[in-house]
Amino acid sequence: MPDALPEAAVYIVTSLDGYVAREDGGLDGLPGFAAGEDYGYAASMATVDALVMSRHPYETVRSFDAWPNGETRVVVLSHCGVDVPEALRRTVAVRADEPADVLHGLGPEGVRRVYLDGGRTTQGFLRGGLVTEMVLTRVPALPGSGIPTFGPPGGDVRLQHVETEASPGGLVQSRYRVAPGPSRGQSGRPPTRRGGAGDPVGAVGAPRE
Ligand SMILES: NC(=O)c1ccc[n+]([C@@H]2O[C@H](COP(=O)([O-])OP(=O)(O)OC[C@H]3O[C@@H](n4cnc5c(N)ncnc54)[C@H](OP(=O)(O)O)[C@@H]3O)[C@@H](O)[C@H]2O)c1
Repeated sequence: MPDALPEAAVYIVTSLDGYVAREDGGLDGLPGFAAGEDYGYAASMATVDALVMSRHPYETVRSFDAWPNGETRVVVLSHCGVDVPEALRRTVAVRADEPADVLHGLGPEGVRRVYLDGGRTTQGFLRGGLVTEMVLTRVPALPGSGIPTFGPPGGDVRLQHVETEASPGGLVQSRYRVAPGPSRGQSGRPPTRRGGAGDPVGAVGAPRE
């Protein structure tokens, strides 16, 4: 039976010592990020049907002069509600659901591929085995403390490296395919090796079309 869940890609910018933001959510420990550097984000966004983000990132982009997500469908995760202006109500919805339910809700709406924009929030999707791809941009900085990029351990997440690019400014961006977890209908056992040395996680195959 085909997997009805949309593919879910996580886009994370992290310091070399593994923080997505300061404890208070500040981004000044990631030089360039707070100043609006793109890091390939716009190109990645062009490949998705929907964007899922939590309240703080939503409030950040809402503060910009122009809404940057055009006609792309956006789901904002919040329990306490957020202000969605009339002009955005056609494309922006607020949900308070578990990660798996968020994706299950988007599949029947024709969404095939989702970008998860986050910090801490995306950890629930990763640990739930819901993420199919991860784009990790490492900023050459060591803020020393903050909100951890991957949080406490919650079971193995197996990755297959796809590509890495370094920018002249020193950013290193890597793309990984993520082995499917139990929430995507897999057993949760480590994937069976089927390849040789060039196939480090075996069951992580080509992306689903
Ligand atoms: N470096 C990066 O790539 C990157 C990307 C994005 C954000 N950040 C930074 O990292 C910090 C933490 O980011 P974060 O994504 O964890 O944001 P966050 O806004 O701190 O996420 C937590 C909030 O999201 C809402 N939420 C999360 N999951 C939910 C769910 N399943 N259902 C309902 N509500 C849910 C809740 O909002 P309510 O309190 O409204 O219920 C919760 O308080 C942010 O301050 C941001 O500056 C960094």
